[in-house]
This record gives sequence, C-alpha cells and structure tokens, in this order.
Amino acid sequence: MMDALRFVPPAGTPISLVDVLCSVGNALIRSDTLQQFKEDVRARAGVRYCDFVSTGRAALTLALHALKAVDGGRRDEVVIPSYTCFSVPSSVVKAGLKVRLADVDPMTLDFAPGALEQFDGSRVLAVVATNLYGLPNDLPSITRVAHERGVYVVDDAAQCLGGSIGGRPSGTWGDVGIYSFDKGKNVTSIDGGVLVTNSERIAEAITQQVRVLPQCTIGESAAHLAKLVVYAALLHPRGYWLPNSLPFLGLGTTAYRTDYPLAQYDSWMAPMGHRLFTRLDAITAQRRVNAERLKRMLPWGPKLEPVVIKPGAEPAYLRFPVLIDPEYRDAVLAALRANGIGATASYPTAISDVPELRNQLQSVGREAKGGQSVARRIVTLPTHGYVTSRDQERMVKVVTDVLGAGRRNYSPQ
Ligand SMILES: Cc1ncc(COP(=O)(O)O)c(C=O)c1O
Repeated sequence: MMDALRFVPPAGTPISLVDVLCSVGNALIRSDTLQQFKEDVRARAGVRYCDFVSTGRAALTLALHALKAVDGGRRDEVVIPSYTCFSVPSSVVKAGLKVRLADVDPMTLDFAPGALEQFDGSRVLAVVATNLYGLPNDLPSITRVAHERGVYVVDDAAQCLGGSIGGRPSGTWGDVGIYSFDKGKNVTSIDGGVLVTNSERIAEAITQQVRVLPQCTIGESAAHLAKLVVYAALLHPRGYWLPNSLPFLGLGTTAYRTDYPLAQYDSWMAPMGHRLFTRLDAITAQRRVNAERLKRMLPWGPKLEPVVIKPGAEPAYLRFPVLIDPEYRDAVLAALRANGIGATASYPTAISDVPELRNQLQSVGREAKGGQSVARRIVTLPTHGYVTSRDQERMVKVVTDVLGAGRRNYSPQ
C-alpha cells in the first residue's frame, strides 16, 4: 500500500532537529568553527589552499576571475560541457568571459572523446569539468589534454564532494576546484561555496578577491537559519509533500541567472556544514549502496540505459541518473511522482538551447548534439539517506510497469 503522504524528495541530505540545535548552540559559543571547517576541507582534499564564499556559483566565478588574473587577461574563452547545470555558463558570463561548448557523450555525461582536442589554447583560458550527479569525469585525461594546450582546468565538484577518480578526490584535479554546500548537496549549510587549489599564484588571486567581498548581514544569517529549520523539517518524506505541492516555490526548476551576489560565507552556518562534513564518508557510502541497488534492480534495455562510470572513478552519486527513451520519459516521470518518488528530468535543455545564451556562445551546432540527446532522455532518481529499500522497490516497479506496458502517457488510475 502506498502512503499518500510520503514523497521522497529528489535531492538533499537528512538533518535532524538535534543537528539544528547543536549547530545553533555551537554558533553561539564558539568562534573558531569556520576556521576548523576550512582546515578539515583542506586536509581531506589534500590541497594547500582552501577558502569559503557565499555559493558554489560565487566560487566558480571567483575561480575563473583568478585564472583570468594570473593569465594577464590574455584569453577570454571558457570551455564547458554542452549539458550541465545552468550555473556553470552563468558563472562564466559573470566572470566577464565567453562560453564555448564542447559536446558531451550521453553514455558517460563526460566530454565526448576528442571534444577537447580541437580547442585553440591561444583563445581558451580554461576548461570546466562538472562531474554531474556526483559521477567523476575523466579528469586525468581532461587535465592532460588541456595542459598540453596550455589551458587551465577547473574541477567543478559542486555535485561531487566525496567522489574521486584515480584515487584523487574530485575537486582537486586541474588548477583550481570548487564545491557547493547548497541545499541539494550531500553536505549543506543552505548556501556556501568552496575554492581549493595547490597553486600559490591562483590562491593569491583568490584571496585578494575574497578579502573584499561583502560580509553576510544579520538579516541574511537569520534568513539562513530560518531556511535551515524549514529544510530540516520538510525534507523528510513525511513533510516534503507540503513544499512539493506549492508550485510557486519553484522547487527543482532551473533558471539561467547572473544576478546572484558574490559575498563571503555565512560563518553562522559553518557549524551545520561542518557537522555534516564530518559524516561525509557515511553519507557517501549510503548513496553508493542505494545506487548499487538501483543498478542491480532496474530493467535495463534499449528503452532504459545506465550512465557508464569512468574507469577508476568512485562516484559520490548525488543522484542516480538513467537515460530513458524520450517517447516514454514523461510517462515514467509522471508515474514515479504519482507514486511518491521525486524523480526529475534534471536541466531542461542543453546549454546551446538556453535562450539567454544563444547569441553569446562561441560555438553551437554539431557539438551540442550529445547535450541535446541527454536533455531529452535523462531522469534522475534520489539516492539520499531518506530513501528506503521499499522506495527503491517502488521505483523499479513503476519504471518496469511503464516501460513494459509501452505506455507513452501516464494517468493515475
Ligand atoms: C556543476 C555545478 N557547478 C556550480 C554550481 C553552483 O553551486 P551553487 O548552487 O552552490 O551556487 C552547481 C549547482 O548545483 C553545479 O551543479
């Protein structure tokens, strides 16, 4: 029997009321938590430099600004995947740089073979690898190809904290990396972004920018705290039906925006982020168990294909992506949602089809085909700690029923 009030959110990380109370208590009595948090992130990543800012978007914007500064403003193009989070091109534009697309391979969601080899290092400043859904891209190859052309690499691990490839943590490949502590991530402090690098020159350029960013106001900290309480209460599958039934909240919608602030990290939220960060191994292990079960149980075939994991990669599985025949995708999504599962179609279009970017892209067309195919086929399934084995059985049954019956439309009986 399905529980009508249970709805499994698409993403997020369980936070208990005790977590919230302990974090607030910590924020009131200790002033060194942010420093400790930074030190722990730095040590875990094994990098020489780490700094925190307001969001992952701010971190990516500042990372690109820093590369522009060390490059002396010579080059102004940034290569990004043709299918990725819209925050990636918006950060490029916000940093005053130009977006150039490289197509993705739909089967891996990584850059397509040969896609990076064609770029001209005299114009391209950096390549951004985005490790979608916590699946590490082939950073060893990306870094080699980029560096052979004198191009910097940004290892954007906003979605991949806890993942690794070639035994090295995601975010620490290339010249500069970022993480995000946004609400949908496996470590969250509602908002937050991290920059990591081993390069002294890049670190200096980052420090100069971070130092002059505006600090969080008391009002902003209070708003973060209020959001944290609501998040802790309503992310639970027994509470999520409420925000999920309020369309004006726009949960899960993706918009292209460049008007986000560049600001310092809210130190009041550090205790919450730090608390979750100390549990990162357990959080990641649980996501991997959930992903492995789905891998074993889903009815793979021509209508439903898995995303291939790169050799040597240990994914963080922020979500579990699958590729569904476009004829059936909407029916599968509708059936999953009707059965209380927060499955999503992820980002609505390839980057080449974001209207605000159409006239700004350095290259469109053939190189966007893979991205457009992903946009038509992708579905993400939740992997977080609130997902139970019964939820997973339900996911598998729903997908099997819709695909098995060849249903192109879904309407609840
Ligand atoms: C790949 C990637 N980069 C950057 C960001 C921006 O992070 P934030 O939401 O913390 O601004 C995101 C957001 O999810 C992302 O997925």
